[in-house]
Amino acid sequence: MSQHKSTIPDNIAEEYYQINPDILSSFPKYRPPLDLFEFKDDIAQLVPYIRKGNRLSNEQVDQLNELCAEGSLFVARSDHPVYSKHIVKQLDLVLVDKNLKESEIADIFVQALSLRLEEFFDQPVQLVFDKLYKDVLVLTEYLTTDHYRIRALAKRLIPEHTLVNHSVNSGIIALWLYIKSRQGVTKRRDLDRTALACFLHDLGMCKIPQFLRTKTVPLTQEERQKVNMHPMVGAKLAQKLGLTFDEIQQAILEHHERLDGSGYPRKLKDDAMSKLGKIVAVADSYCAMISERPYASAMPPMEAAESLRGDARYDAKTANTLYNGIQEEEV
Ligand SMILES: [Fe+2]
Ligand SMILES: [Fe+2]
Repeated sequence: MSQHKSTIPDNIAEEYYQINPDILSSFPKYRPPLDLFEFKDDIAQLVPYIRKGNRLSNEQVDQLNELCAEGSLFVARSDHPVYSKHIVKQLDLVLVDKNLKESEIADIFVQALSLRLEEFFDQPVQLVFDKLYKDVLVLTEYLTTDHYRIRALAKRLIPEHTLVNHSVNSGIIALWLYIKSRQGVTKRRDLDRTALACFLHDLGMCKIPQFLRTKTVPLTQEERQKVNMHPMVGAKLAQKLGLTFDEIQQAILEHHERLDGSGYPRKLKDDAMSKLGKIVAVADSYCAMISERPYASAMPPMEAAESLRGDARYDAKTANTLYNGIQEEEV
């Protein structure tokens, strides 16, 4: 970002964002979606430049670019909802925007991942997958500066239970548990693959009819069998999309396996399960337990973590990490 020649007063910096050229160029060129302000050096104040929705002339477009390049262009923080909605759709902008607070960035990531997963589950094809993966890579890029930035996302789980919300929540919690299990040290490629795997653990559910996913009464045996096919269905779908690396197959196929062999689809036992499979199993159950579902009410986080910690079907180390992390109010 270019540095303005005179200092921007604190009261302005508190209420306005300085817009950088990458962000300006992502707005519709002639109709900015929010009010823009110009910093006037001589009076050290912001004055309105153009109101949202008004059309700019070619000269104004040029002038706006110049103002922006010299650091004199601002938007009001009160326009944050518009601004963040805009960034959600061009997520890589969070990496260049120095104005956003960590909490605002975390909100934007949660919204963007929800949007991309929704699109992909509606239409699980390569083109839509590419958009999702691009945003997952923006997240992992953001996390490489400090892996524990994931905590801010984990504080923003979405309460309502839907396939998309559950996938976002479990993906974030699984990634947080994975990062903790590696003490924050992980190669970029491993992080990329693990992140994608965690968000897509329930990929197969997008092929299960909606009425079975949202049924409020217990499923019949036949319906249960159908739903329990989702790990196999997901694994096949991932393969079709060329996603054959270990992490994604482990997350999809093993998240319903249990250490005592009581899980599905392959009734794997402790030794046969991968580390990631065990992590996603804990994250998946935890996120289901703390959200309001059609057939069960939401449990408080501490209570859910406590019950997983005392359940021998789950990996004790992972369940303890979850319990301790929540107790220390990390997330
Ligand atoms: Fe599942
Ligand atoms: Fe799940």
